[in-house]
Amino acid sequence: MLVCFAGVLLVGAPYLPTLSPQVSAALTLADLQPGQTLLELGCGDGKVVLAAAKAGYTVIGYELNPLMAAVAWLRTRRYGKQVQIRCANFWQPNWPPADAIFVFLLPKYMTKLDNKVMQQYPKGVKVISFAFRIPNREPKNTLNGVFLYKY
Ligand SMILES: C[S@@+](CC[C@H](N)C(=O)[O-])C[C@H]1O[C@@H](n2cnc3c(N)ncnc32)[C@H](O)[C@@H]1O
Repeated sequence: MLVCFAGVLLVGAPYLPTLSPQVSAALTLADLQPGQTLLELGCGDGKVVLAAAKAGYTVIGYELNPLMAAVAWLRTRRYGKQVQIRCANFWQPNWPPADAIFVFLLPKYMTKLDNKVMQQYPKGVKVISFAFRIPNREPKNTLNGVFLYKY
């Protein structure tokens, strides 16, 4: 168990859940239509994935920690193909087509995130970040400590 949690620290933010008011704020800022896709980078226990699935969105969550990925999968499995939990390092693969991306990372990863978003979504995507801003970018909106960026 220690290996699962400590291993994540080498490549990303440790597990800490987004609070419920901020989950609501994130979904409000994402402003998606049912059927549109939310990608969550580091989905933890699936709290945001579950809320987004309940709202009718298609959701893909990456989670490196296999224990957290298992919890997220168990919490959301009733949504079938509407939800995918991928147990993987999200920095490695090409990211799937998405209408919005949700992250709760750490400041030191925000520039890397910015670069990868620009590379992966040349036609644009919304990025919603809880707690941390993307350097040198102005958020389009802010709600309860959650920032919306439009690429
Ligand atoms: C701060 S927690 C946020 C959890 C969830 N997004 C939420 O808001 O409730 C960050 C999560 O990202 C995961 N994570 C960090 N780096 C990762 C990486 N490179 N690939 C996949 N998951 C990662 C951690 O294991 C942790 O569960």
